[in-house]
Amino acid sequence: MYCYNLLTIQSVTLLKFMSQTIANSSNSLSDSFSRADWQRGYQSLRTEQAYSIDRIDGELPLELEGTLFRNGPGLLDINGQAYGHPFDGDGMICSISFHQGKAHFANSFVKTPEFIAEQQAGKILYRGVFGTQKPIWWQNFLDLKLKNIANTNVIYHGKKLLALWEASRPYRLDPATLETIGVEDFDGALRPGQAFTAHPRLDPETGDLWGFGVEAGPKSTITIYKLDASGKLTTSCQHKVPGFCFLHDFAYTPNYRIFLQNPVEFNPLPFVLGMRSAGACIGMKPNTPTKILLFDRTGKLTTLETEAGFVFHHCNAFEQDDEIVLDSICYADYPKLDPGSDFLDVDFDRVVPGALYRFKIDPKTGAVSRSILVKRSCEFPAINPKHVGRAYRYAYMGAIPKAEGNAPLQAILKLDIETGNQTIHNFAPRGFIGEPVFIPRPNSVREDDGWIAVVVFDAAFDRSDVVILDAAKIEAEPVATLHLKHHIPYGLHGSFTPQVWLNS
Ligand code: CO
Repeated sequence: MYCYNLLTIQSVTLLKFMSQTIANSSNSLSDSFSRADWQRGYQSLRTEQAYSIDRIDGELPLELEGTLFRNGPGLLDINGQAYGHPFDGDGMICSISFHQGKAHFANSFVKTPEFIAEQQAGKILYRGVFGTQKPIWWQNFLDLKLKNIANTNVIYHGKKLLALWEASRPYRLDPATLETIGVEDFDGALRPGQAFTAHPRLDPETGDLWGFGVEAGPKSTITIYKLDASGKLTTSCQHKVPGFCFLHDFAYTPNYRIFLQNPVEFNPLPFVLGMRSAGACIGMKPNTPTKILLFDRTGKLTTLETEAGFVFHHCNAFEQDDEIVLDSICYADYPKLDPGSDFLDVDFDRVVPGALYRFKIDPKTGAVSRSILVKRSCEFPAINPKHVGRAYRYAYMGAIPKAEGNAPLQAILKLDIETGNQTIHNFAPRGFIGEPVFIPRPNSVREDDGWIAVVVFDAAFDRSDVVILDAAKIEAEPVATLHLKHHIPYGLHGSFTPQVWLNS
């Protein structure tokens, strides 16, 4: 089960990477980027730092108070021994705090025992889920142990800062110093071997944080957890469902927890024999629909079907009359790297693009319809957190700069769902973006009254910026651009909390 969990995680990460990579890969004349520029954003950041950010273009709003936490692979090699996939990189937490118009940066690696062991050894000791193998082939044979890389998301909830990786339990860090405290088991509620998602959903009215864990196999077990506002974890329900589950994310409404079960299968043999990473052993099942798993408040499961596709991330869901509306980024196929290939050489034209779809689901009749909201290749959807599980009008996401094909994510796209209008802030040709995070303005009423914070790798200077956009006018000049002293390797997910730790 441990092995399957890890596999699931790896494949999820791989898919995200692939989507980003694919989106950026074109070699055509219309390319918006240089491959050498893009590749440099995948260099390891080996230092841990803490400093005031002095170089700011524009002005940080005084109302912008709080801390933006980011997680992602900080190291992509050990002593020059490259990991086979960026999703296998070691989790590194960044905090960017905003206080009285000033900003402060700090970063720290999540010091899992496996991370410490590898750093002390100075070489790769563990296989990675997505593509990293130990250097001597026979060392991989029957070695199913993977390291907890704690690299996917970071949240502050119940007065705890938690680094999340979906194949295992969270790691807790000190939010002021970013020192690693250790595995978080929520007073023993999460046992060794149990996993907690990298994509929990916070109900903005109750303050409850909902999450899940998966034990994937020929039959998979899904456990749904609730962390109340104080951080106490309880199990809401547990179900066995047929088939292998590759579930990276779920959607939440007050009455439903919603999963799209991707039509994939896992062939463990090449992984067990040490020939391939787990993520490379996953493939789409031909002629098989995607399953929609709806858990109601009592834990009752309803399973429906829709067109085949692959999903990493959901944007939002809400209930409207008798229907559930679900907005998700879907791929026509499961994106994975060819075994043995270098991810830095990926051909973006061969990477299947993601697109934002809207599903309308009637749980009573089982009717499901699907329509497209954003055709342009996109990933990393975000919304105003006050609208999680509720009707909403605006979605923000990473996108490619051109309307068709695939390439790296270099733009932020805002969708007005009511009008269909799309606006774009483009960082091409030399800027490469990560996940946007919506920060509501304090006491705001209007849904798009707030800011979009995004980390942008600026290849012109080999450094990263933290860019603050006005969420109401994302196409305008940034409100503020904070120039860091170094780059941050392309990250995965993060979150904002209004709290500031002044001693950080
Ligand atoms: Co994710």
